[in-house]
Amino acid sequence: METLNTSCLKEGNEIYIEDNINRFYTLLNRHKIKIKNKIFLITDDVIYNIYKDLIYELQSKTECKVYYFAHGENNKNINTVQSIYNFLIENNANRSSTLIALGGGVVGDLVGFVASTYMRGIKFINVPTTLLSQVDSCIGGKVGYDYNGIKNVIGSFYNPVFVYICTRFLKTLEEKQFKDGLGEVVKYGMIKDIQLLDFIDKNYKYILEKKNDKLFYIVKECLNIKLEIVEKDFNDSDLRNILNFGHTVGHGIEVSSNFTISHGEAVALGMLAAVKLSEKKLSLNSEVYMKLEALLEKLELPTRYKVDNYSTFLYAINHDKKNTDKIRFVLLEDISKCKIKVEVTAEEIYSAVEGSISRG
Ligand SMILES: NC(=O)c1ccc[n+]([C@@H]2O[C@H](COP(=O)([O-])OP(=O)(O)OC[C@H]3O[C@@H](n4cnc5c(N)ncnc54)[C@H](O)[C@@H]3O)[C@@H](O)[C@H]2O)c1
Repeated sequence: METLNTSCLKEGNEIYIEDNINRFYTLLNRHKIKIKNKIFLITDDVIYNIYKDLIYELQSKTECKVYYFAHGENNKNINTVQSIYNFLIENNANRSSTLIALGGGVVGDLVGFVASTYMRGIKFINVPTTLLSQVDSCIGGKVGYDYNGIKNVIGSFYNPVFVYICTRFLKTLEEKQFKDGLGEVVKYGMIKDIQLLDFIDKNYKYILEKKNDKLFYIVKECLNIKLEIVEKDFNDSDLRNILNFGHTVGHGIEVSSNFTISHGEAVALGMLAAVKLSEKKLSLNSEVYMKLEALLEKLELPTRYKVDNYSTFLYAINHDKKNTDKIRFVLLEDISKCKIKVEVTAEEIYSAVEGSISRG
């Protein structure tokens, strides 16, 4: 097991990564978590069914109470938040209780939010189980839920007592969810770490086979990159923006495809379009596009997408909450050299998309 220390969390609070689920109980002790009748594990139905045995074992050791809700982004809403509050109240959770979020980004964001508000804030432990949640959403403190069709519009910043990452959970992930995470992994390489890109290039077969040592390496590298960024800009006012590389066009693709293209696939396509824009706006070397395209192909992520409806596509980009009045992009001067808030016109986006992912 490895420990990542970070100034993002309170002193003494840490991020643990391991490839086998066996140190969790030791960590509960180390962090002085009260156990008997004080732990509430919250997850979704898919994870509950896959990891029943693990959950029973935890119940037998800690007498924790368990609650699960229906999986998926559609349930990341106020109704689920209320149902968790009800469960906590019915089971007499109090200020010395601790919540365990076992699941992907949806579970982590929801449970973190509930922990931040229940009795003005109680402890929570994040146990991310998807690649995306392990490399991204489990750190950085953003918790919340979707409201009135707007993603993550209600939320706060709140940190867990500790984050427990076990790459073995990734073995049971469906391929689509796994690929979603890989899109984000490549993003980290593009914005900060050419060596990570080289590692993926060399090891892509093992990564796709989910070889544990390779997964462990990429998760750890991505976390270190995210931590470095978040430590400098926890409140998301400036530098943290670079984490949105590929997400602006990506968001347009998700919306204009009616969400048939998943988030990670859309980020892959969005990065290609952003690289093409970077060639025009920041004179980025055209070899970067070829390198990225080849890598995405190896990872079986999409590199082509025909935008059929530019008005929906541009509307989504313009109304992305990260954009204000102007369309602003994170672009690259080189691999791992980002420039944030580059203003781009609709015509420039059109020609970048037509000259890259949408080309004939
Ligand atoms: N807080 C942040 O900083 C941050 C950053 C990025 C994304 N997010 C949020 O994360 C969410 C997406 O996260 P996600 O991709 O993890 O989605 P998710 O939580 O919906 O999980 C995807 C699916 O995988 C299943 N699953 C989870 N772990 C599994 C496992 N080990 N084996 C088999 N199936 C498993 C889940 O039941 C679900 O059906 C979005 O709501 C997004 O807004 C938050």
